[in-house]
Amino acid sequence: MKNYRHYSSRQLRKLLRGKSNEIEKQKMLIVLAERNKMPKRDIEFMTNKIFNESNVVTMAKLPDNCIDLTITSPPYEDLRHYEGYTFDFEKVANELYRITKKGGVVVWVVSDATIKGTETGASFKDALYFKKIGFNLHDTMIWLKNPMPQNHNRYEQAFEYMFVLSKGKPKTFNPIRVPKLYKDTRKKRNFHRNKKDNSKKKVGFVGKQNDKVDINVWKINVGGGHVTKDKIAYQHPAIFPEKLAYRHIISWSNENDIVYDSFMGSGTVAKVCLLTNRKYIGSELSKKYCDIAETRLRQTIENDMFLKLKQ
Ligand SMILES: C[S@@+](CC[C@H](N)C(=O)[O-])C[C@H]1O[C@@H](n2cnc3c(N)ncnc32)[C@H](O)[C@@H]1O
Repeated sequence: MKNYRHYSSRQLRKLLRGKSNEIEKQKMLIVLAERNKMPKRDIEFMTNKIFNESNVVTMAKLPDNCIDLTITSPPYEDLRHYEGYTFDFEKVANELYRITKKGGVVVWVVSDATIKGTETGASFKDALYFKKIGFNLHDTMIWLKNPMPQNHNRYEQAFEYMFVLSKGKPKTFNPIRVPKLYKDTRKKRNFHRNKKDNSKKKVGFVGKQNDKVDINVWKINVGGGHVTKDKIAYQHPAIFPEKLAYRHIISWSNENDIVYDSFMGSGTVAKVCLLTNRKYIGSELSKKYCDIAETRLRQTIENDMFLKLKQ
């Protein structure tokens, strides 16, 4: 990256007003964002938009404690450089902590690259850094996929981590429930624990329930048809399944909450926010992927209007 760090913030603002290509402008904005020299914007003017810029630039415009939930997946390690930008994990993590509301959640979906025969361990390093800067590692969830067969000397690679990080105790948890394997035929009854003096203390009760809270390993397949029905989205190489975004959005946020995706890609998180009545904010470096996301969102709105007209 051309070293704009040697310029003063005043010089950079002057350069930004002049003519320059978009990539150079973005690089200047990143330097200003790093110096915290960007005016904060009213959050309401930032919502329901995807910003074609680096996430550190978008986040620098966001006030403290304004985001309810972030769901995001960084580029794989070999792709952490893009058109001269390098994704700086620690800066992104620090900013995510600053903008997350108290009780808000960040879901960081990540897996390790294998370089020269050894996994890099970047996922664990990311999780431990999040803890170091103040997040709770609320849950280490697993996204189990249908593995793509590969020729190598180990078992087929079938999962990614979904680190659920919270700023304090999560303020929202709407657990997904699944049917119990066996029907509960017992009557509602109280549970007691023996106290030291041999008397009993009521500690809870079990009702007749035929469902239970889901486990923290989610089997969600990838590949054409499973991920989304939006053909245009497949022009992006690494889309989230809509089901994965949906499950996290309903679990950790409520209607009208603000959901951020710092690596928006093809716009999956924004689309699911539209469908579940949440507000979204996204950052995406690539103009091509921003255009795909915008088309996808337009189609979602048009299909929804069409459905409503048909009712
Ligand atoms: C793993 S993909 C995310 C895919 C997305 N979850 C979806 O469903 O389409 C990561 C994306 O981050 C973008 N990206 C990389 N560095 C970035 C940065 N610093 N700021 C914003 N976007 C970035 C890449 O262009 C890529 O589209």
